[in-house]
Amino acid sequence: MPLVSMRQLLDEASKRGYGVGAFNVNNMEQIQAIMEAARETQSPVIVQASRGARSYSQDKFLYHLMLAATELYPEIPTVLHLDHGNSVETCKSAIELGFTSVMMDGSLMPDGKTPSSFEYNVQATREVVEYAHARGVTVEGEIGVLGGIEDGHGAGGTGLEHVTDPDQAVEFVEKTGLDALAIAIGTSHGAYKFTKKPDGSVLKMDRLMEIHKRLPNVHLVMHGSSSVPKDLQDIINKYGGSLKPTWGVPVEEIQLGIKNGVRKINVDTDNRLAITGAIRKVLFETPEKFDPRDYMKPAREAMKKVVAERMTQFGQAGHAGDYAPISLKEMTKFYAESAVVAK
Ligand code: G3H
Ligand code: 13P
Ligand code: ZN
Repeated sequence: MPLVSMRQLLDEASKRGYGVGAFNVNNMEQIQAIMEAARETQSPVIVQASRGARSYSQDKFLYHLMLAATELYPEIPTVLHLDHGNSVETCKSAIELGFTSVMMDGSLMPDGKTPSSFEYNVQATREVVEYAHARGVTVEGEIGVLGGIEDGHGAGGTGLEHVTDPDQAVEFVEKTGLDALAIAIGTSHGAYKFTKKPDGSVLKMDRLMEIHKRLPNVHLVMHGSSSVPKDLQDIINKYGGSLKPTWGVPVEEIQLGIKNGVRKINVDTDNRLAITGAIRKVLFETPEKFDPRDYMKPAREAMKKVVAERMTQFGQAGHAGDYAPISLKEMTKFYAESAVVAK
């Protein structure tokens, strides 16, 4: 089947009460790992690419790899989503290329680190919604700002400085008409999220529940949701790496989020850790090897294992065959009709 709309996937997930992992990719092996995990667990999937991924892959390589994925895994509903679009233009160029979903992250200015004004965020997100919905494409927006800056994206600090305000979230949804809302509840991107297992003082699940109560029909998105498992840290450190002790978002907290309106869960770091650990192990144990396939195959397998585990934990496993895809053209009609109803 062709690439599908993220709105359809999230609507289905909401009907049945599960979450869908959105996994970042930059190359062929990462796409293969996700698609194999999806086939093994019979999961619908969201594959997402950041601006960095688009530039690393010259855009076209990535897009055509995704077309290959839809050809080779026709039974898997697959979304291609732009992660953290930093401007209206970036979102438009992704849509023109064939992405079926985009994130306009207007919570930050185009530099990816300076928190923006509410008015700027509304205006940029609204503009993307108009352009995207006219083409059947889904839009995710963000209100509140993530902490950290490890991957060049975030406002710095602990992540508690710009936790989402529920009143603003309601106003933002009303003014933009977006499909999915990313909220800030104390997480940040990368491996160094928390210095101990997070409790309510640093991971604001109560805030998430409050927002869900106020916006029960809005699909919520959790960014910075890697769990940074100790076993993956240990493999890297055992084979010559040097990660400092760190904690991510416990899977039980994500599952609590899924019970409270979270439909999309962003995971990149856990897969980066799995890949790097597997490569380090091969190079450390067999330093005579130099064929990239000798370490890329175990790396792909290690990522597949993490992704399949998350698919099961998030509840999307077993749901790939639940529905027939709605075309982007039909989604265009859906948006046009819901706009008429809204007026
Ligand atoms: O935005 C966060 C994702 O982990 C992507 O990171 O911008 O380094 O590709 P990136
Ligand atoms: P992690 O760094 O926790 O994997 O978060 C990824 C993310 O939010 C991508 O947008
Ligand atoms: Zn993110």
